[in-house]
Amino acid sequence: MRAAVVEQPGRPPRERDREPPTPGPGEVVVSVLAAPITPLDLLCASGTSYFGVPRTPYVPGVQGVGLLGDVLVWFPTKAGMAPGDGSMAAAAVAPREDLVELPRGVDAVVVAALGLSAVAAYMALTWRGELAAGDQVIVLGAGGAVGQAAVQLARLAGAGRVIGAARSETGLDRARRAGADAVVPLDNDDVDELAARFEAATDGGADLVLDPLFGVPAAAAARSLRPGGRWVHLGGSASETCPIDSSTLRSRSLRLSGYTNNELTRQQRASAVTHIAELAARGELTIDHESVPLADVGSAWRRRTGGRAVLVP
Ligand SMILES: NC(=O)c1ccc[n+]([C@@H]2O[C@H](COP(=O)([O-])OP(=O)(O)OC[C@H]3O[C@@H](n4cnc5c(N)ncnc54)[C@H](OP(=O)(O)O)[C@@H]3O)[C@@H](O)[C@H]2O)c1
Repeated sequence: MRAAVVEQPGRPPRERDREPPTPGPGEVVVSVLAAPITPLDLLCASGTSYFGVPRTPYVPGVQGVGLLGDVLVWFPTKAGMAPGDGSMAAAAVAPREDLVELPRGVDAVVVAALGLSAVAAYMALTWRGELAAGDQVIVLGAGGAVGQAAVQLARLAGAGRVIGAARSETGLDRARRAGADAVVPLDNDDVDELAARFEAATDGGADLVLDPLFGVPAAAAARSLRPGGRWVHLGGSASETCPIDSSTLRSRSLRLSGYTNNELTRQQRASAVTHIAELAARGELTIDHESVPLADVGSAWRRRTGGRAVLVP
């Protein structure tokens, strides 16, 4: 079968012939229709993740959408985090109990683009972030996959005001299209200046910051939280460290929480995927994405424009 294959950690995968996967006990073979290229796939294949250097060659792809018989399913894999192949191939294996049946008629590519990025946005907002109706929410990295989903999901969950922050014009435009009431440009590294922008964009203090960036943007956004405000951190796209000052954290008794999809139970993850797929099927949730043939995986691997790349084997 045709597959994207990482032959060396740190190098982009190439389309190759590969033996079809053999299911182990409790596993099934899914015919893959769509597999997104996500930051987690890049990190795992780089060999620098905390999962260690992956055994090569291997097929990357930690999630996908495909057919089991004539049933459309979403499935996860552990590719790059544990030995074994992932979703970026004509067929992939996954534990049967991990499959999530998708609503009839939903677009496989849209669900793949949303996938675990939208799951993270949804669970970080509603479960870890305890989003309540009327809350003012700041979404950092609002032009990214997590951010675009978070702006829409915050709205759908009843947020009173959503502020999207992004560093590029494209990102700001995506935040607006996702439904942000206001946008904040992250075009410099001056915490004071960015904090003033966040303060101006919020109406008397934000309740929740959804943070896939860390670094200067998170430090600035935290200053516009109201007393007792929540800051949910789920990614370090801007920086591994953050110049947060002690007085900001303690003077307002802020609640800083980390979030990872890896802590979700199978049931929580399945419920979140189902919710996201139902919203997508109703046309209420999507993110910018592009379909990419498997043969173009090498050029799509590190592409930053065009939205989330979704391989269609
Ligand atoms: N904890 C979890 O379970 C979980 C789950 C999913 C994702 N994540 C993490 O969340 C983060 C975002 O994921 P994603 O899928 O949304 O990634 P993505 O689609 O690649 O988006 C990343 C965003 O970060 C922005 N960005 C990068 N560096 C920046 C900087 N210095 N200042 C401001 N913005 C910056 C990018 O802006 P431009 O568009 O201008 O480049 C882009 O919009 C990643 O770190 C990912 O690993 C965590």
